[in-house]
Parts: sequence; C-alpha cells; structure tokens
Amino acid sequence: MSRPIIRPFFDEPTNTVSYLVADAATKKAAIIDPVFDYDHNSGEVDTRSVEAMLAAAGQAGNIVEWVLETHAHADHLSGAPFIKAKTGAKIGIGEHIKDVQRIFRPIFNATDLKTDGSDFDHLFRDGERFKIGELDVEVLYTPGHTPADISYKIEDAVFVGDTLFMPDYGTARADFPGGDAHKLYRSIKRLLSLPQETRLFMCHDYKAPGRDTFAWETTVREQRENNVHVKEGVSEDEFVTMREARDTKLSAPRLLLPSIQVNIRAGKFPPAEANGVRYLTIPVKLKGGAQTCV
Ligand SMILES: [Fe+2]
Repeated sequence: MSRPIIRPFFDEPTNTVSYLVADAATKKAAIIDPVFDYDHNSGEVDTRSVEAMLAAAGQAGNIVEWVLETHAHADHLSGAPFIKAKTGAKIGIGEHIKDVQRIFRPIFNATDLKTDGSDFDHLFRDGERFKIGELDVEVLYTPGHTPADISYKIEDAVFVGDTLFMPDYGTARADFPGGDAHKLYRSIKRLLSLPQETRLFMCHDYKAPGRDTFAWETTVREQRENNVHVKEGVSEDEFVTMREARDTKLSAPRLLLPSIQVNIRAGKFPPAEANGVRYLTIPVKLKGGAQTCV
C-alpha cells in the first residue's frame, strides 16, 4: 500500500484543519477542506490560507487535481474556488449536497441557486473510487452532522470531516437542518469498523479540557478505546440521547449564515447586485416584542 504524503494546515480563527494530500510517486495531489480568510466584522475575504497551501504544493512540485470537500461547512467559507482558479483542480463534494441546497435555497431566498449540485465539478456517491496519482481513494457516505457528509479514504488515511472529533473532544453536533444523531452514530460506527491502525484526520479541533495543543490525527483504535462520546460499548440510544441534549445547548456557529450560503454555491459568493457589490444574506427572525416594530 502506498502511503499518502499528508500536510495539515490549521486555521486557528475557525479551528479548521485543511490538508494537502499528495502521491509521492507522481506528485499528484488533492486539497481537502480549504478555508478562505473571512472577517465577519468587515466583510473582507482574503486568500492567505489557500495561498499558503498552494505555495507548499508548488514547493513540493505537486500537481493539484482535486479540491475535496467533506461537506457544506457551517463554520468557515470554502477556499475551493481560488484553488480551482489557480490550478484547474476540480471541486468535489458528496452527491447529497443537492439535499442541502434544497433545504437552504428558501431559507436564503437564493433564487439564483441551482439545486442540482452543478456548481460543483463532481458529486461523489457512496463507494465511488478514484485515483490521486497512484493513490487509491474511496468515498464513504457518512451523514448525520449534515445530510451530505462524505469521508475520503486515501489508502490508510481517512479524512472524516465533521463525523468525528479527537477522542478527548468527541463528536460534532447533529442539529443543523437535515442533521440526524442516529445517522451520525451509524456513520461513526462504519468508520470505526475499518482496520484498527487506520489513520483518521479531523476537520476541526478545539483542544479538549486539559489539552494545551491542537491535534487532528488519531486512529480507529484510539477512537474505539477513548472517544468520550462513542467509545466501544456506547449504544446508539445512549449516544443519541447525549448528542441531542448537548445540541439543544449549543448556539449557532458564528459564521453559520455566511458560510452556508457560500459553501452551497461551491464557495462562490451570491451574484453581484446592480451596484456591483456582492452581499451575504442574514434572514432576520423577529422574536417577542420585535415583531411589533416592523
Ligand atoms: Fe461542519
């Protein structure tokens, strides 16, 4: 088995880990879950993070063929379009992104948004296989956090998106529209049925209490033995009860609304308005007395 060369890039403002994954033999590569630098206060979008990834790819002589999204993220804006523009890489995501587009199109009144996934270059189905150079890639459909999550198994390494967090932190929330804690549990069990030494790479890390450094790499064995939410012996019902109780206490992620409306468009911003400016949409929910003020 070839082992992919894996280079992580951690974006501290969004706690996101993006990866440059390359085949040593052919130098062909993929970038997984890239991040735009977005300042919510000013609306400024910058490309420092993706430029750093492309610089590293350039120094290594890599040919970036793919931008692989694990799902439509709710906590950062995807940097995929910049990588595509600079390298010609194709942007891929799970085929159930169409469900996510259908859910959010009315929420944002995004009348320009196509709900057939065609903003992406490729929609992966469960079990699909492809190559990055000589590396074998298998797509695993792992829904639950959202309806569209997929994990990419690249030889002995699996990029799990938000299906799992590090063992001391647990699992991701399952309360976004279309999320399902039962499905998340079954997706996790599917991943944890892989060989024990399979390496697992997280998309996020927040440091667990008592841990001083960020971390994103673990193994199936470590997750099965130690994951604080789903280690061996935790039943589906126990997990779902815990997950749903936790989720009711979580507030919306800071970048939820900007992220989703960009990421379901494959990282593109909504079309410019008549004045040439692109705007992000915030649906306002009037509560209590605010309903009388309009
Ligand atoms: Fe996510």
